[in-house]
Amino acid sequence: MFAARAIETPDKPDFYRELAGQLEALLAGESDVIANAANTAALIYHSLADINWAGFYFLRNNELVLGPFQGKPACVRIAVGQGVCGAAVVRREPVLVEDVLAFSGHIACDSASRSELVVPLIAEGNIIGVLDLDSPLTSRFDMQDQLGVQELTNIYLAACGRF
Ligand code: SME
Repeated sequence: MFAARAIETPDKPDFYRELAGQLEALLAGESDVIANAANTAALIYHSLADINWAGFYFLRNNELVLGPFQGKPACVRIAVGQGVCGAAVVRREPVLVEDVLAFSGHIACDSASRSELVVPLIAEGNIIGVLDLDSPLTSRFDMQDQLGVQELTNIYLAACGRF
């Protein structure tokens, strides 16, 4: 059985290196897209401090549809270009929002959310979805979080193989 180890280091790059190692071990030998998304969301949700939502949206017929997540129930469908998630799809790059109240078009699934980080999932050049993290604190995420979470999405994509 996999047991997530608490990560004590105050250094963010060290924290994400350790978490990346745990995620690799957790997904090793499994390629199912949904099972791996579920375990990735659970590991992130229970490892990162001060987050209230962590989960996936997958692109289906040019619309983002809710996938595995941890946190409160969330909006099921998000149009490309709408909200922070839809913006990440259009930009094809991560979107880091320090204050969601200042982001025009932010979709409030949980009114407690104050900052957000969305990383697109790009497999063989195609966007297949996004990984979305929400926090009840403003400015919870910075560039080190962005780089660390991007590495986690790379591990997820590599484990799943072809999409
Ligand atoms: N806030 C997101 C919507 C998804 S929830 O946060 C889970 C957005 O603006 O796209």
